[in-house]
Formats: sequence, C-alpha cells, structure tokens
Amino acid sequence: MTQLRLILGKILNPISDSSIKYYPDGLLVLEKVKAEEYKVVKITRSSEINKYKGEIFDFSDRVIIPSFFDMHFHWVQDDVRQMPKDSLLDWLDKYTFPTEAKFKNKTFSRKEAKHFFKRLVKVGTLGGACFSSVHEHALDDAFENCIGDFVIGNVLMTMNSPKSLIQTKDEAKKTVDNGFKKYKNKYAVTPRFAIATDPETMKYGHEKARKRKAFIQSHLSENKAEIEFVLDIYKNMKGFERVETYTDIYDQVNGLGPQTLMAHGIHLSSKELTKLARTKTSIIHCPTSNAPTKKLGLGSGLFDFKQVEKHKVRWALGSDIGGGPYLSMFDVMQSFVAQNNSKDATYSKALFRSTLMGAKILGIEKTHGNLQRNKWGNLLVLSKIKTYQDDCPEKILKRICHKYRNSREKYDTLVENVFYKGKMI
Ligand code: GUN
Ligand code: FE
Repeated sequence: MTQLRLILGKILNPISDSSIKYYPDGLLVLEKVKAEEYKVVKITRSSEINKYKGEIFDFSDRVIIPSFFDMHFHWVQDDVRQMPKDSLLDWLDKYTFPTEAKFKNKTFSRKEAKHFFKRLVKVGTLGGACFSSVHEHALDDAFENCIGDFVIGNVLMTMNSPKSLIQTKDEAKKTVDNGFKKYKNKYAVTPRFAIATDPETMKYGHEKARKRKAFIQSHLSENKAEIEFVLDIYKNMKGFERVETYTDIYDQVNGLGPQTLMAHGIHLSSKELTKLARTKTSIIHCPTSNAPTKKLGLGSGLFDFKQVEKHKVRWALGSDIGGGPYLSMFDVMQSFVAQNNSKDATYSKALFRSTLMGAKILGIEKTHGNLQRNKWGNLLVLSKIKTYQDDCPEKILKRICHKYRNSREKYDTLVENVFYKGKMI
C-alpha cells in the first residue's frame, strides 16, 4: 500500500516570473517513494481530503511555499556579514580574508559548519551554490553538514592574495582533483575571481569541470575598482594583451558555459551580455550585497535585470553571505523589489528567482524548485500572516516580505516548519 502525507495550507506555487499558482484552501498530497522520502502527487483543494488516506499535517491557516535555492553564498563568511563595508576590495582585505584564514583551524571550521548549516535550514534554504575557503577540510565540513541539494567548491587563490590564504598552482589544482574524487559533480570548480586565480589554474579547473559535467562558479563585474584592477593585471599578462572586458578573461580560460554561475554581473556591456547569453552562462544577482552601505551592502551598484533579460541571459537570486548581511531569502527578495522600484520587479518574480529558477540553473527542475507532481516534497510552512478573500499571490508575498523590512534580522523567524523530501526537519 502506498503511504501518503496530506499537508493542508494556503499554498503558493511559483511557475514563472509572472505566474504563481495560489491555493487558498490547498491540499498537498505527498507519496512515499523510499524510506522517509516523499514526492508530490498533486496539489488540490482541501475539500478533497476524504479521497485520501494518510498522515495529516494541518497548516490550513499558514502559507506554504517551496523551499529556497540560494544560488550564491560563502558559508565561511558568516562572521563578516555585518562588518563595516565601504567597498569590495577593502572589505575583502580588511575583514573577509582574515576571517577565511581562521578556517585553517579544523576545530574552528567544524564548529562553524555545524552552526551555519543548521541556521541555513532554519531560514528555509535547501539548495544552491556555495563557496568555501581554500581549505580542503572546510569543504568536507560543508558537505558533511549541509542539508539539501548544493554544489560546493573551495575557492582557488593563487595570486594577489594574502600569505595566510595563497596557494601554489599545484596546490590549487590538487584541491580540484581531490574535490572531484570525493564529491563527483557536487563539487564546483570555484576560482574566487580572475584577480585572485591565475589563468593556468582556472583553465585546468574549467576543463576538469567540463569533463565531469560539473559546475563552475566565480565573481564577475561586481564593482568598478575591481574591473579596473582585473583589466590592469591581465593586460600585462602574456596571451591576454588584447583582452577588452572582464567577461573576455573568463571566456579565454574556457570559463563560460551552461554550467557556469557568475555572481553579480552588475557593470556589463551589451557585448558582454551577448557573450554570456551565447554561452548560456548564468548570472546570480545578489541585491542585498550590492545595496548601498547604509543598507549593510557593499554599495556595488544596481543590477539591470531588464537589460539582462532582454539579452536572454539566465539569472537567479543569491544572498552572497557575507557580502549580503542576512541569510534569509525573504530579505533578498525584499531588497530586489525595493531597489528596483519598477512594475516589473515583483515579489512573484523574486520568489520564482529564489526557487524554481535556481533549480533550473542547477539542472534539477524535474525534481526540485516547486510543488509540481513528481518533485520532492521540499517546502516551507511560514509563520502566521493575515490573508483575505480577494488576495492574489503578489499581495500575500508583499505582506510577508514587508513584515520585517525594518527589522531585517527577524526574517529568520518567518519559517516555522521545513520539510525536506516530505520529512519535517
Ligand atoms: N569577489 C571575490 N571574492 C569575493 C567575496 O568573497 N565576496 C564578494 N562579494 N565578492 C568577491
Ligand atoms: Fe560572493
């Protein structure tokens, strides 16, 4: 006999930028497919509950959404989220690099991982793409403690980096080999950015990633000073004398492609966007990190999502912890809408780009990203919020995201229950 779980709630199911399906009296039917693992059979009306026999979870006065994908964050930067920020390169030198250097200590790293990944689940993030420090044991700690579907990589830092973190090319390449050996294509090749990773090492990693059908993740065009610096470095490097743009640098080391995630992409020319589209490279937009310093961001600039969409470049949302100050994707969604002040920057779009679009970019949308049939029962039950007869999804999402816009640390408390593969965790 099949075993069912019947979850009652006000279900919001993201389908696209402009479509969120809303079931005010919803019933989500989950079916056990393996030991303690459940997939979605259907979403219907609660009045149909008598047709099914199963374990009932009554959240009928609560909003339910699929769990989040945070498509760009640094798990080793939990301690710099709220450090003084004035510009990217200064913040990296002053706070971020010294903090990441602490992960050399194995006891410290293990303790931080336990703490961080517990909190990540609590805020409802059950998938995404994650940067670790240069240290191999820190990567092990991340894989050991994360719950959900993540690709993770240790950053590669072979130049323009502090003594406490810098690797030789051979050391960096060896971490790539070991990463693939241990974690197969859950391992993401992660050149920190072209400033800190030399072209030979990048090329080596990128080629391995392609062979393994694995992901590549890095940073691109986040900040004007960063762009000037990177072009300055590469113009003086053999083979790169004629490079015109930051995007060209990654292209020349075989870094662009359908399995490449580039964080930020704020200051890109039309030519660069065309190249990203042609290679099917994705951009991960991190609004809370890019926000002005008085909003606790790095003041990197405003991401032009309309331009990016016009060029047909795929993009999803990320927190960029610690560039971004808070873990919750609700905070990221709110920041995206508030910064853009455009009728096209909706909460519905923000939810889609924090869930299903992440799954699409990771190539797992057949089983992840929303609550359609045959996908895993990965969902969040939110804390109580008023809903009304004539509510539409956009209004409800706005109410949820607005609630803590002036006390942002409280976004962490919006998620009451988390289900991973149908199991309450
Ligand atoms: N560019 C290179 N490294 C980093 C980092 O750790 N955070 C951000 N936001 N940008 C970067
Ligand atoms: Fe980042």
